[in-house]
Amino acid sequence: MEKIYKDIERVLISKEEIAKRVKEIGAAITKDFVGEEIVVVSVLKGSSVFMSDLIREIDLPMDIDFLVASSYENTTSSGNVQIIKDINIDVENRVVIIVEDIIDSGLTMYNLTQLFNVRKCKEFKICTLLDKQERRRAPVKADYIGFDVPNEFVVGYGLDYNGKYRNLPEICVLKPEIYE
Ligand code: IMP
Ligand code: MG
Repeated sequence: MEKIYKDIERVLISKEEIAKRVKEIGAAITKDFVGEEIVVVSVLKGSSVFMSDLIREIDLPMDIDFLVASSYENTTSSGNVQIIKDINIDVENRVVIIVEDIIDSGLTMYNLTQLFNVRKCKEFKICTLLDKQERRRAPVKADYIGFDVPNEFVVGYGLDYNGKYRNLPEICVLKPEIYE
C-alpha cells in the first residue's frame, strides 16, 4: 500500500480496532434477531468492504443485496436522493439491515428510510461504520454505529476520495494538499 499511503496524513482507526468493532456489531445483530432470517442491504460502493466483513460476524440466516443511491452534491438543497440501482429482494415483512460506510449530513439515509417505509418491512435498522454527527442536516439516527468520527474527511476501508483509497485497510485522514 506504499503507493497510496504517501497521500495519508494519519491513521484514525486501525485494522485491529475495526475488526474488533465489526465483531461486536455482528454479535449485537445476531443477538437482536435470533430466530429471524434477515436481509442485509449494502449501499454501494462505500459500504462494500464493511458489509463483507460484517456478514461473516452475523450468525443468522440471511439474504444480501445491494443498492446504489445518487449523490446529491450537484443537485439543489432539497437533498433528493435517487436510486440508481435498487435491490431485487422483496422486503415486505422482512427484517432489513441497511449498511452504510458513513452518515454525514444524513440526507442519503433519510431518503433511503422513506423509501423502505413504503415497502412495509417487519423492521428496518440502520447500521453505519462511521457517524459524523456534527454534520447532520436530516434527522437520522443509526441503530448500530461502528465509530463516531470528527468532522474530518476520511478514506479507506471502503471510503473514497474521488473514487480512490477504498482499498486502504485502515480508516485514514488524507493530507490536506490532496484537496488543494
Ligand atoms: P450523507 O448523505 O451526507 O450522510 O452522505 C453520505 C455519503 O457521503 C457517504 O456514503 C459517503 O459516500 C460520503 N461521505 C461523507 N463523508 C465522507 C468522508 O469523510 N469520507 C468519504 N466519504 C464521505
Ligand atoms: Mg457512499
